[in-house]
Amino acid sequence: MKAIVYQEYGSPDVVRHADVDRPVPAAGEVLVRVRAAALNHADLLTMRGTPRLLRLAFGMRRPKIPVLGRDIAGTVTELGPDVKDLQIGDDVFGETAQRGFAEYVAISVKRLARKPEQVTFEQAATLPVAGSTALQGLRLGAVGPGTSVLVNGASGGVGTFTVQLAKALGAEVTGVCSSRNVELVRSLGADHVIDYTREDFTRGTRRFDVLIDMVGNHPISALRRVLTPRGIFIASSSAGGPVLGPIPRLLATVGLTPFVRQRLRVLTTRSTSEDLRTLAEFVAEGKLTPTIERTYPLSETVDALRLMEREHARGKIVLRP
Ligand SMILES: NC(=O)c1ccc[n+]([C@@H]2O[C@H](COP(=O)([O-])OP(=O)(O)OC[C@H]3O[C@@H](n4cnc5c(N)ncnc54)[C@H](OP(=O)(O)O)[C@@H]3O)[C@@H](O)[C@H]2O)c1
Repeated sequence: MKAIVYQEYGSPDVVRHADVDRPVPAAGEVLVRVRAAALNHADLLTMRGTPRLLRLAFGMRRPKIPVLGRDIAGTVTELGPDVKDLQIGDDVFGETAQRGFAEYVAISVKRLARKPEQVTFEQAATLPVAGSTALQGLRLGAVGPGTSVLVNGASGGVGTFTVQLAKALGAEVTGVCSSRNVELVRSLGADHVIDYTREDFTRGTRRFDVLIDMVGNHPISALRRVLTPRGIFIASSSAGGPVLGPIPRLLATVGLTPFVRQRLRVLTTRSTSEDLRTLAEFVAEGKLTPTIERTYPLSETVDALRLMEREHARGKIVLRP
């Protein structure tokens, strides 16, 4: 089968569309024929092996798992031993620990949810990492009716879900993005949109109950200034240095928490079948519409990775094996 493989860390140039063996599902796993896969920042980090700290998990000298890709949607074609909950022919979606950018992937049933008929494979593939991050970020912020929420990075993969879900929860939403995405973020339901090329929201006079940060481009002190006295700051960005990445900033955030009245939280997403079902139901009911900037054939994944690396994709980028 074809897959997106890499033997060394580096830029998208290290990635190849090549033949590999079709995986065999182990106990508790199913083999899924991948119909769509979505890109995430995590794919860029595992491709580059940066921050270098990640290499402790992904392989010190070279990648331990040579196939990229986490978010997938597809059809079950084979059952491993002890699988009772799914049948051959079921349409599913979920997050794998790599190996997703391929024609087939073996994946634990615990990491999957059924795809409703009304949801396309492309839409379903966008949900696991970015949709779960948005949902869990809003939960961490206890966002509900009347909460004023600022989303920094509102036009990206996580941000486009966060804006829509926050509106569905009844919040008053302010999205921050660049000029070209102002109309997009407004169309997702944001009550106010700040164009970061014209205005620095950290210098404004408005205060927010919850600030969800997907960019990491302002000091924590500046972000705290625009929070209400008991406001909640949620850090969900991998921005940082080449060795430790966001760790120093996240440690500083956590370390400050006992000394201030505002609540400073670090978001670490774990996609669960329950959240996947919730997100898919929202899409099926028309309450959530994944924003897909572009769909590429699997063979053109290098171009898709380059677009994602520019950090200005509108919503999600999808691959079709
Ligand atoms: N905590 C977790 O578990 C978790 C899970 C998923 C993702 N993440 C992290 O969350 C971050 C966002 O992920 P994503 O998938 O949404 O990324 P993305 O699709 O690339 O979106 C990036 C967003 O950042 C904005 N942006 C880029 N450069 C900017 C700048 N100089 N100033 C202000 N805004 C800027 C973009 O706006 P414009 O395009 O309008 O410029 C866009 O809205 C990443 O760092 C990722 O690693 C964390």
